[in-house]
Parts: sequence; C-alpha cells; structure tokens
Amino acid sequence: MSIEDFSPNVEHLEPSSTLVLAARARALKADGVPVVDLSAGEPQYASPAFALQAATSAIEAGKTGYPPTSGLPELRQAIAAYLTETTATTAVDPTEVIVSAGVKQALFNCCYALFGEGDEVLIPTPYWVSYPALVDLAGAKSVFVDTAWDDGLLVSVEQLEAARSSKTRGLLLNSPSNPSGAVYDLKHLTEILVWAAEHDIWVLSDEIYRRLAYENAAPSVFDIPDRGDHVILLDGVSKAFCMPGFRIGYAVGPEQLIRKTTDLQGQTTSGAAGPSQYAAAAALNQSDAREAFVTNLVSQLHILRDIGISRLQAIDAIEVQPAPGALYFYVKLLDDSKSSMEVAEDLLLNGLVASVPGEPFGSPGHLRFNFAVERPVLEEGLERITAFFE
Ligand SMILES: Cc1ncc(COP(=O)(O)O)c(C=O)c1O
Repeated sequence: MSIEDFSPNVEHLEPSSTLVLAARARALKADGVPVVDLSAGEPQYASPAFALQAATSAIEAGKTGYPPTSGLPELRQAIAAYLTETTATTAVDPTEVIVSAGVKQALFNCCYALFGEGDEVLIPTPYWVSYPALVDLAGAKSVFVDTAWDDGLLVSVEQLEAARSSKTRGLLLNSPSNPSGAVYDLKHLTEILVWAAEHDIWVLSDEIYRRLAYENAAPSVFDIPDRGDHVILLDGVSKAFCMPGFRIGYAVGPEQLIRKTTDLQGQTTSGAAGPSQYAAAAALNQSDAREAFVTNLVSQLHILRDIGISRLQAIDAIEVQPAPGALYFYVKLLDDSKSSMEVAEDLLLNGLVASVPGEPFGSPGHLRFNFAVERPVLEEGLERITAFFE
C-alpha cells in the first residue's frame, strides 16, 4: 500500500481554495513582494475587548476543563437570547442550540447527520467554496442551481423546483452570500421556505454574514414564524464579531437533530474550546456593547463598500454586484479570452493584488475581492486593480 492510498472518504477532497490563495499571498509578502491581499474572507479588525477579557478571565480562573459537548450552558443560553433579541422569533430554547468549532464544523455535523448515499443537496451558484466538499464528505451529491447575474445572483423558487428530484433532501442557503454579497429579502426567503417545507427539504441557512448588511437588514430564517421544522440556522462569531480565530459557530434547529449532532461531536471533537466559548458568551451577552460593536463595524464596512463599488463600476472591463451584504465585491470579467483563474494569477503576479477567482465558487469568469481591510489598503488595492484592467 502506498502512502497515498487514502480511503474513498477523502477521494474527492481538495484543499479549501480560498485558504490556499491567502497562503500564497502571505508567502509572496513574506518574500518581500508588496502584495495587497484582498483574498481572505476575514475582517481585519480587532475582536471586542470585552470578549477577549472574558477568555483571559476564564483561563486565569482555571476554567480549562472539558466543556459540555454541545456547548457551555451560558453560551447556549446567550445564543438563544441573542436570536430572540435580533430576529422575529419569540422563543429559542437552549436545547435547540449546539456550539461547534466554527460554522464549518456546525455545517459538517448537520450535513453528516442528515444526508447520505443517494441524497441530493441543492446548492445555488455561486456558492461558498466548502459546501460541495461538506456534502461530498457526507456521501451525498451536490446539485448546483445556476443563478443569473441580472437577478443579483439570487436563486428563485422556479430554479430550485427545476433542479428538484425525488432524491432532493437539502438546500444550502447563504444570505448575505459569500461570494456575491447578495441578500434575500423576507418575501423571497419565505417563498423558498414554503417550497422547501412542501417537499420535506431541509434548509441549512448559513447566516454568518447576517449582521453585515448595508442597505436593509438581512432577514433570518428565524424572522419567519411558519418556517416548518426542517430549518436550521447556522451562525457564529467569526465575521460580525471579528473573532474567527476563536472558532465558535453554532447550529439552531430541532432538538432531535441537536442531540444527534451532539453525539457526532462527542465522538469526533468533544466540541469547541472552552475559553473561546466564554469569549463568545461575553460577545453575545452584553447587548449594548455587542450592538455598539456591530453598528460601528457595519458603518466602517459600509464606507469601504461604497468607495469600492464606485471605483469598480468605473472600470470598463468588468461589472460588479452591488454587495448589499457580506464583505465582498463580486466582479464579472467581460473579456472571456482568459479564465478567471488566469486573470487572478496575472493580477497577483503583475498587479500585486490577491483575489479569489470564480472557479472555486462554481462560477468561472468572476473574481472576488474582500473589502474588509484598512481603508488605505483597500484604496491602494483599487488603484492597482484599475491600473491592471486599464
Ligand atoms: C459562507 C460562510 N460560511 C461559513 C464560514 C466559516 O465560518 P467559521 O469561521 O465560523 O467556520 C465562512 C467563512 O468564510 C463563510 O464565508
């Protein structure tokens, strides 16, 4: 047996391309190449001081034992309270919440627990890079549903229905979207949930960017009272609270599913790190400080978004989506003589800007730029992007 004879479990597994590109930009920078890195999907801001303090205090107080597998009771309670405060849902019970090591693990748990051999899971395109891999690891099949640029890259019920088969068991929805920044309004989201409920399709609603919306608030599936019992909300502290390194995410859904994913987590990771959970509980619990943090973050990002959109709109060779939410400019390349992979490569080596090409999002011909960076960095990046395309 060769050292590369891995099991079929990981046969199709590829490294996360956004992480690979960010690592490449970092390596160039380390070699002294002055790259402007707009590739990573990470807000480049400090975490809330009150959350950091909570983690330090927990460590100093010796709270370093195994936390309960489904999460610390105070964090599950804080998540339940946060959702009742910030969505139209009037009651979330902590037993409906599981804490995991990031939304990534929460998504993995749900996919693994719900989908398997013979199942199909609908994924609107463009999608977050990890969705197909997560569905694949569960043994199920991703069915990609194309969206149109002129519809703001939002999927319609008609498009979902056209992609549905008797094997369809799930839908991965992401609003605001990574990479497109698209946001589903409440009516649209309700139509999708009604359609999914009619066909017993699980909706995994990845709301990690919910609070990062610039025109109108981005609705949650928890804003819909009649959402049925096949809906799971996934969120975490990586984006709106600038705490990605803490690795805290959560899934909220029917108690039976939470129990099963707790069993899965109990046999795999034993859950998320304790000090991180104390930090996340502090971030969510202190409502005034929490809301002040998010409001300040959103107003800074709003300025960056507006600067970037107007600069990108002025470039003839591309079109850009308006980015009503999330952290990204999603750009269509009007010249199709080169693949977006080649253009991203060229832009990195000759324009000295790191981006992510559309291929790993299932939409070749596009580029994604993260705008959650310091303003001078973004302005320098935009300057270089303009020079590159012109
Ligand atoms: C759409 C989406 N979901 C989930 C994640 C992962 O979040 P976490 O850091 O909580 O694992 C990301 C991170 O970029 C994301 O863009």
